[in-house]
Amino acid sequence: MRHSPSGAHVESAAQPRSFPSSLAYDGARRVLSGNWTGSSTVPSRALYPHQWSWDSAFIAIGLRHLSPARAQRELETLFAAQWSDGRVPHIVFNPEIPLEAYFPSPDFWRSSTAGDKAGAPASVETSGVVQPPVHALAAWLVHRADPAVSARRGFLRRLYPRLVAWQRYLTEARDLGGHGLAAIVHPWESGMDNSPCWDAPLSRITPAASGSFHRADLDHGCRADRPTDLDYGRYVRLAESYRDRGYEDRPGTHPFAVEDPAFNALLIASEYALADIAAALGDEAADPAEHLLRAESLTWALVARLWSEQEGLFLCHDVLADERLPQRSAAGLVPLVLPGLPREVAAALLRTARGPRFGLGGPARMVPSYDLTDGCFDPARYWRGPAWFNVNWLLERGMRLHGAEPAADALRAEMLRAAVSSNFAEYVDPCTGKARGTRDFSWTAALVLDLALAKDDQAARAGRAGPAAAGVGAH
Ligand code: SER
Repeated sequence: MRHSPSGAHVESAAQPRSFPSSLAYDGARRVLSGNWTGSSTVPSRALYPHQWSWDSAFIAIGLRHLSPARAQRELETLFAAQWSDGRVPHIVFNPEIPLEAYFPSPDFWRSSTAGDKAGAPASVETSGVVQPPVHALAAWLVHRADPAVSARRGFLRRLYPRLVAWQRYLTEARDLGGHGLAAIVHPWESGMDNSPCWDAPLSRITPAASGSFHRADLDHGCRADRPTDLDYGRYVRLAESYRDRGYEDRPGTHPFAVEDPAFNALLIASEYALADIAAALGDEAADPAEHLLRAESLTWALVARLWSEQEGLFLCHDVLADERLPQRSAAGLVPLVLPGLPREVAAALLRTARGPRFGLGGPARMVPSYDLTDGCFDPARYWRGPAWFNVNWLLERGMRLHGAEPAADALRAEMLRAAVSSNFAEYVDPCTGKARGTRDFSWTAALVLDLALAKDDQAARAGRAGPAAAGVGAH
């Protein structure tokens, strides 16, 4: 065992030998060490200097290969800021960072006072909105990386009730449409802030006056890669109004409420992970069957409510207008991670990913965040077209799950190349791989580290089993 510059234990992981896995591995280690604060990892030192919720889950998935204990700590730090109503805030603020370094800062959210009734902690400042619930999946993968360290630290036993409360907050307080699915109440909650899917529901929101806030993101990021000022004005207005209502979720009070297929698919994937965690804990307080049942019934609700056979894609549903949103984003492909999808739905999703709209195996090197053929597509602007590594990591996993191994292998190779050549960019042009957004981005590093090691692991297994088995693995 060695020590990282941050003082955290860095245990020896099997290191990949092949190109570009070895370059991805070395670079990813450097990024993750540089962004570690001692108790969690910032997504980016300049642009995102605090702890973000779904970032930490993806980061933990990569960190588990370097240090299972540090990966556990990443999730524990996040869940220490959980509210007593179960919500896990999308940002946990580091009090040592100056207020002007990030907007909206803790004095905007005022969680410990404005969120008091909703159960915000008094000891730490957080935002009041959430992000996609990928945490139970991350916790399970982190546990599996070293079950002995996990058991010794009581990792799953301590985290399980918190994960359950988080999932219950979403399936109960956020079932605003009454069909069992969770609704997001702010575009930031999708994690895909300026997706064209939000254009129509967001157009009903009067933007905050442009001079009433300062966009710190533009001090660090290129304007063409970031959401517009008009979008920001609406984000600010929505967040202010949620804060001023004490962050309460009473149905009928939210001016924005949308059921998003990626958010709900991750909720379901996490419910499956909770079943695994409950089985591993093996005691009466944790019943795997209950989680499996919920995962299955949520999968049916997802298909019934959001699947479009005509598009071969899941679409968002605007709860307030009670109508389906026609915009085609990569969020609609994410349910491919689910094992319980009807066979024809999974097959259609695979066709759509490789068809003209998402271009995989054709013009696109990685899956774009938005339909390449639509007028809204923009290869540079945040979630309106660029390819993101977390979405592509999920799709790579989904392709493998549904038997599309060659497509998954090709995507994995592209992701490794794009991460290295872009200096671990936050996002890239889906067709050229050109870097966009910030660099040395933590989840890009973490997830390609995961892919780099999985690839070598697969090659080693194939080698051990001989040429016939290697052929089976490749198809
Ligand atoms: N993604 C948002 C930002 O750009 C907030 O979570 O700061």
